[in-house]
Amino acid sequence: MPAADCWLLLGASRGLGRSFFDLLKDDPSNKIVSVSRKEFSCDQWLKMDFAKVEEWPQFIKTLQDCKPTRLVYFAGGGPHGQFSSQKFKSHQWAFRVNFEFPAFLLHSILSHNADFGQLKQLCFIGSSIAESQPDPLASSYAAAKHALRGLVTSVQAELNLNPKILDLQLYSPGYMQTDLLPEGSWPRSQGLAQPPDLVAADLLLVLESTLI
Ligand SMILES: NC(=O)c1ccc[n+]([C@@H]2O[C@H](COP(=O)([O-])OP(=O)(O)OC[C@H]3O[C@@H](n4cnc5c(N)ncnc54)[C@H](OP(=O)(O)O)[C@@H]3O)[C@@H](O)[C@H]2O)c1
Repeated sequence: MPAADCWLLLGASRGLGRSFFDLLKDDPSNKIVSVSRKEFSCDQWLKMDFAKVEEWPQFIKTLQDCKPTRLVYFAGGGPHGQFSSQKFKSHQWAFRVNFEFPAFLLHSILSHNADFGQLKQLCFIGSSIAESQPDPLASSYAAAKHALRGLVTSVQAELNLNPKILDLQLYSPGYMQTDLLPEGSWPRSQGLAQPPDLVAADLLLVLESTLI
């Protein structure tokens, strides 16, 4: 009988995170804690808004108290339109939610500023497109996803220099049929976006295969 896992899913009320939650929920050996801004019906839900910098230290304490063994950060998004036509506040939101909070979380875990002693696996969600090429009309989202990839791949290399203490993953899907990419957007109209259920199933396979 495999040891029970406590999954902490950050951003699981909709989209890919919700599909991933749905995959896990029928296995009684899984304890799942789900985090988002809007209430979401599940055994344990926590309200957090990762854009609220002043609340980050308290969020970390709350997440630590959940004693997760596996943590996946799904939250993401950003303003759509020309860089100059959007309020800078909207770009800052994208930097915070896609990059700065994930960076703060990763640092808190690895520097032992917080006690995540049971954590075996930590996964951030990137974007195969936005993290590796220009993404016109989504510039701050693309900038933050590039930064996330730079951070996670660099830290992965650092961890490989030392005995592995944590399985750190960046999972970068292509376009998906979620609220982040509304119906009528060109990738969906051209049939380029995958259902999030399929992507969630692939993510779970990847995470099962890389677990230390
Ligand atoms: N959709 C795509 O085409 C696509 C492509 C490549 C990569 N991705 C990436 O895949 C991940 C999931 O995207 P998705 O398409 O599933 O997005 P989504 O449908 O918009 O869902 C985003 C989830 O994150 C939560 N969230 C957003 N901002 C938050 C905040 N400030 N604080 C707390 N929770 C927050 C949302 O819940 P609440 O609104 O309740 O807070 C929701 O559960 C993201 O990292 C995204 O960048 C998406």
